[in-house]
Amino acid sequence: MIPICDCNQVSAARIDAAVEAGARSVREVAARTGAATSCGRCRPAVARRVRRARLRAWWRSLFGRR
Ligand code: FES
Repeated sequence: MIPICDCNQVSAARIDAAVEAGARSVREVAARTGAATSCGRCRPAVARRVRRARLRAWWRSLFGRR
């Protein structure tokens, strides 16, 4: 596992899971996973991952799991 957040050892998969579970923003993902809650250096990467996960969730809602 390569963490997106080094400080708190949060992986991309955990961020994806948080979005799947209903988190819709970096703040909500941070509250659920601890990502971006220490030095904050990973915040842009977390934001990109949240956008990607939300886009995938939206795509699946339209076309099913692919
Ligand atoms: S790398 Fe994520 S808070 Fe420091």
